[in-house]
Amino acid sequence: MGIPYLCAMSDNNKLDMFRNRLAKVYKHRQKQARRMELGCYRVYDHDLPEFPFCIEVYEDKIYLAEYLRRHGMTDEEHETWLEACLQIIAEITGIPSARIHTRQRKKMSHRDEQYEKMDKKEEFYTVTEQGLKFLVNLTDYLDTGLFLDHRITRQLVREQSAGKRVLNLFCYTGSFSVYAAAGGAASVTSVDLSKTYLSWAEDHFRINLLKDKNKYQFVHADVKQYLKTLQPGSFDLVVMDPPTFSNSKRMKDFLDIQRDHVELINDVLAAMTAGGILYFSTNYTKFQLDQPAIHATEIKDITKATTPFDFEGKLKRWCFRIIK
Ligand SMILES: C[S@@+](CC[C@H](N)C(=O)[O-])C[C@H]1O[C@@H](n2cnc3c(N)ncnc32)[C@H](O)[C@@H]1O
Repeated sequence: MGIPYLCAMSDNNKLDMFRNRLAKVYKHRQKQARRMELGCYRVYDHDLPEFPFCIEVYEDKIYLAEYLRRHGMTDEEHETWLEACLQIIAEITGIPSARIHTRQRKKMSHRDEQYEKMDKKEEFYTVTEQGLKFLVNLTDYLDTGLFLDHRITRQLVREQSAGKRVLNLFCYTGSFSVYAAAGGAASVTSVDLSKTYLSWAEDHFRINLLKDKNKYQFVHADVKQYLKTLQPGSFDLVVMDPPTFSNSKRMKDFLDIQRDHVELINDVLAAMTAGGILYFSTNYTKFQLDQPAIHATEIKDITKATTPFDFEGKLKRWCFRIIK
């Protein structure tokens, strides 16, 4: 079946390729997600270079990110092409285009635009992941509020949090923190430089009925400086998932994860109890852990073990379990 208003035959062929690919992956992923009782999962990620999309299902809605590249189309042609792609996505998934939220992203998005707001619709949808509730926003920010690739790591944290003092650094909207609290943590401290994300994290606690203000703390700080203020033995379990690069007026110095990871990790370890666990994750593709410089008793690369079914073969992040 072709799209009539795209006149070039080769364009229709390409759209058919996209349709076939999407139909195949959607069928497969949807089945797996259903089996695992997951409503939020990734369907497609740059599978075909001519269709540079990331497509994620958030229950009855779709988040469609188009990565901008030099496509050689005029604005009008691009709009027509995108509309044709939307029709295909709606047709395959059965989710009408009104519920497909499209966003355009630059290829490498982690540098300056980290705090940039993309839109102002302020529409938040409640979704459920592994029994916990999260608010996602599919239009206003660079990311949705819930990073789907850490679903397994979040579950690990929940399973290991009972009675522990948990610290979540670069907490973003606090999804790891909610899992830790739900797992029975003695306390959960969430640290981020963004007030917007911290208040989003507080909302996540509220909607999950995690109300004990004495147990749950939200700290507005630069992690680098915050770590220097901690007493030894303050935490038993820590999650640290920093951006690759970060710069802000509130920071004394910029953060470059390759340059700074040894200092950050050693500062975290200094604030932990012996035998405490640190989950450290980074999206920096070329990241190299300077293992000998880290004061740990055990370091394990758990990237593969924490890769969910919908990210297999596609994941460009690293994850380590570091034991003090
Ligand atoms: C990659 S996200 C973390 C994702 C989070 N761990 C999750 O799984 O939902 C990075 C976060 O770091 C925060 N951030 C960036 N630089 C920071 C700094 N120097 N100190 C504290 N937070 C910072 C950003 O506001 C953002 O929320």
